[in-house]
Amino acid sequence: MDLHYDTSKLQMLFSPEQIRGRVRELGAEISAHYEKLLAEGEMVLVIGILNGAFVFMSDLIREMTVPLETDFIRLSSYEDHLSSSSKVVMLKNFEREVRHRHVLVVEDIADVGLTLNWLLKHLKTQEPASVKLAVAVDKSARREVKVDLDYVGFAIDDGFLVGYGLDAARRYREFPAIYTLG
Ligand code: IMP
Ligand code: MG
Repeated sequence: MDLHYDTSKLQMLFSPEQIRGRVRELGAEISAHYEKLLAEGEMVLVIGILNGAFVFMSDLIREMTVPLETDFIRLSSYEDHLSSSSKVVMLKNFEREVRHRHVLVVEDIADVGLTLNWLLKHLKTQEPASVKLAVAVDKSARREVKVDLDYVGFAIDDGFLVGYGLDAARRYREFPAIYTLG
């Protein structure tokens, strides 16, 4: 495919074919889990974390073979200079009722762990029947908050990644492969 952008500063880490294959495997694995769990008439509630998760989520749900519905939450983290720590802010909540629902959270990447940890706590106050976490990439080197990831596309140690929903200053989200920047 001819790309309209310059990838000369990027190194490809996972190709579109690798990603497609892995997402297909995850879709099958996740579906097998929920096939056993869902009662007649129930649907998985898939909640994506905006902005980064929308590309992975759109591929993943099309590889899933169980009934589902989709929702989104928008979270952002910022440095709090007063307490010299990072804080998560919710810019948009999900809209569906999660009580007694089987929830699958979809995120682009787990890094420090703060975002997913915050969302898990937020969800658990609302008594879902179950919560599973799926991430396209698990980046473990900078993890500060423990999070149990149930489904991981690719595991890496460190590095700043772009493409497949991941951005650097809002760029590169549309790239079909995952690249390291730098
Ligand atoms: P954390 O796990 O709370 O650090 O937050 C993860 C969020 O940081 C993700 O949702 C991404 O938006 C962003 N992020 C972390 N690492 C990367 C990266 O390598 N590329 C692009 N965004 C990243
Ligand atoms: Mg994000």
